[in-house]
Amino acid sequence: MQTLVLKPNENNIKLACELLNNSQVVSLPTETVYGLFANALNHIACEGIFKAKDRPMDNPLIVHISDYDMLDRVAKNISEDAKKLMDAFWPGAITLILEKQDEIPNAVSAGLNTVGVRMPSNPVALEVIKKSNLPLAGPSANRSGRPSPTNSEYVFKDLQGRIPLILDGGDSSIGVESTVISLVDDIIIYRPGFVTKSDIEEVLGKSVKMSDGIYEELSEDKIALSPGLKHKHYAPKAEITIVNASFKDIHELALKEKATILCFDEYLKETEVWAIGYGSEKNSSEQAVKLFTSLRKLDEIGAKKVFAMMPNLDGVGLAVYNRLLRAAAFRVINI
Ligand code: TXA
Ligand code: MG
Repeated sequence: MQTLVLKPNENNIKLACELLNNSQVVSLPTETVYGLFANALNHIACEGIFKAKDRPMDNPLIVHISDYDMLDRVAKNISEDAKKLMDAFWPGAITLILEKQDEIPNAVSAGLNTVGVRMPSNPVALEVIKKSNLPLAGPSANRSGRPSPTNSEYVFKDLQGRIPLILDGGDSSIGVESTVISLVDDIIIYRPGFVTKSDIEEVLGKSVKMSDGIYEELSEDKIALSPGLKHKHYAPKAEITIVNASFKDIHELALKEKATILCFDEYLKETEVWAIGYGSEKNSSEQAVKLFTSLRKLDEIGAKKVFAMMPNLDGVGLAVYNRLLRAAAFRVINI
């Protein structure tokens, strides 16, 4: 199959809509990361997503909508708290886990009775959802286990020959995936993202819980609720270890072990070893924008062993740490 990479003009948006209405899989830009989309109400179309990315079938998909009429086609019994979060953050980078409509196929929900729903803010994604008149199921458009793609080139590298079309909407402005929060029974954040715990608590006027799997590897009995947490994620080919230490100590270690450093941009000029920057030490949003690109650059320079500087965990920094921790297969050392 030939994979076209096209600008999102009127004709190409029409082409994307036609493909989606014919049960095909298409990659579109979103403000978080690029997604791989198919008709969320069609089991066979959704199976195409799993095939294209080699994704395990037990990991459910997020359904993307463009308006509130579409919401009723995918979810039901929506709580007041859920409505408050939609009002505050949609369109935007937060996915709400809600009770699913019966029409949502098993390929989307992975057998759960819930569905993750998000209204993205990227205008290309919104327009394709609206014009195709389909709720679109979509994971990040990477091969399973790889870093999520933040531009069309990385989607092409991972999925070339496996999908017919990628719409190129430039770089994703946020760079890490949406915050995932369950509003079925308890309110629990399953995945930290651009919308932070304190943003959410401010809107709801109460405290919310964080899932155990955010800071450490989840035990077998806890993975059933958020299957995505158990899978290996975001990993470059290199072996990454997060090092909680000063740049000086990390640099010494890297020199001794002939390793590459993944550091804040401020330190790039100080190193005598290979180093890739992932944003300013003081700017977590910039780290979010750059992290996945920097992980892919480690592969491009052929890094084998990598020591990564520990991000600050405040605000969006928690999302950065959460992704880096998975890329490092939970290896963290303190010096
Ligand atoms: O920003 C994003 O969320 C991007 C863009 C494309 O929208 N999408 C994305 O999808 O990151 P994906 O499939 O890579 O991650 C979705 C996460 C997974 O960890 C999955 O387990 C969880 O959301 N999830 C989806 N539906 C769920 C459900 N019903 N219950 C619990 N977790 C769910
Ligand atoms: Mg993903």
